[in-house]
Amino acid sequence: MRVLVDGDRGYVGAVLVPFLQAAGHEVVGLDAGWYDGCDFGPPVTGYEQRTGDVRDARPEDLAGFDAVIHLAAISNDPLGHLNPQATFSVNTDGAVRMARAAKAAGVTRFLFSSSCSLYGAAGDAPVDEGAEFHPVTPYGESKIQAERGLSALADDDFSPTFLRNATAYGSSPRLRADIVVNNLTGTAYTRGEVRLASDGTPWRPLVHVEDIARAFLAALEAPREVVHDRAFNVGRDEDVVQIRTVAEQVSEITGAPVTFAAGAGADTRNYRVDFTRVRAELPAAAPHWTVPDGIRQIWEDVHRFGLTADDFEGPRFVRLHRVSELAGTGALDLENLRTTAVPA
Ligand SMILES: NC(=O)c1ccc[n+]([C@@H]2O[C@H](COP(=O)([O-])OP(=O)(O)OC[C@H]3O[C@@H](n4cnc5c(N)ncnc54)[C@H](O)[C@@H]3O)[C@@H](O)[C@H]2O)c1
Repeated sequence: MRVLVDGDRGYVGAVLVPFLQAAGHEVVGLDAGWYDGCDFGPPVTGYEQRTGDVRDARPEDLAGFDAVIHLAAISNDPLGHLNPQATFSVNTDGAVRMARAAKAAGVTRFLFSSSCSLYGAAGDAPVDEGAEFHPVTPYGESKIQAERGLSALADDDFSPTFLRNATAYGSSPRLRADIVVNNLTGTAYTRGEVRLASDGTPWRPLVHVEDIARAFLAALEAPREVVHDRAFNVGRDEDVVQIRTVAEQVSEITGAPVTFAAGAGADTRNYRVDFTRVRAELPAAAPHWTVPDGIRQIWEDVHRFGLTADDFEGPRFVRLHRVSELAGTGALDLENLRTTAVPA
């Protein structure tokens, strides 16, 4: 298939693009380029990379594609808090704009990178795709509204699918340090300690970034009736874990002791997720990675590519710091989260 992947130059995209290509698909990217140069090892090249904003998508840009995979977003809670209104404009309006343009261009499949965080403060029982939403942040709410907007476009010729990904971990040419497993493993290397920012009790669903790519591929290649206007939680039951368990695993693998950051307390984002549907209906999405294997992978890569504490805690690998840096240089307008110039 000929697939347009937007957000291709971020953490997930840099793993997804080669994964789709290896499966025989042709990929074209579309990205605002906010994290260009924020590399961890060799960057992904060798495919058409368009630079632009998904909020400007036009049908003529999408002619000739079989599918769109929509990753572009304000991709976490701290970024979403920077400017909630603009977060809705990127995450909700941007998704719907891409989908409308795709539909008008005759593209039949639209895979949306949603998040388990839309379940929010869900209580103790594992939540399945039919559960109510209790978002606790603008980021979570923006994903809910995007799903609703996209679902309204579903018809005989247009099939949106919502992949509600667990929190990712694992190495990527566009590594992120602001997600928990990566953060704990990187800090074990740069500071010699596994430093917990919370008391470690919250439950989190985790999934390796390559297994997110596997789920997108599975949904892309699945029969239409399986994925038409449907949501899938992406992850697996064994990897819904308490953060302190992850910290202990990182400590065991790296030899660094577990410590608690000043003021580390409870965390309100605490939820368990049920992965029965994806296991039963998208068997090709079955995860290959375990959390300890992912920790070992990052641990090997930080030795191979090198990492300093300044880098790991700064704009190169922390999305909030990079966006603030771009805003500081005038390359990004914080008012509407738009690029004003192609960043260096
Ligand atoms: N990483 C995770 O743990 C995780 C978990 C669940 C869901 N997701 C979702 O998966 C997607 C990808 O996440 P990621 O970790 O790769 O994020 P990321 O921040 O690393 O990448 C996002 C990419 O989108 C681009 N982008 C942002 N706004 C844009 C716009 N208006 N127009 C064009 N490009 C724009 C950025 O330049 C960046 O390259 C996001 O939608 C995110 O919400 C991620």
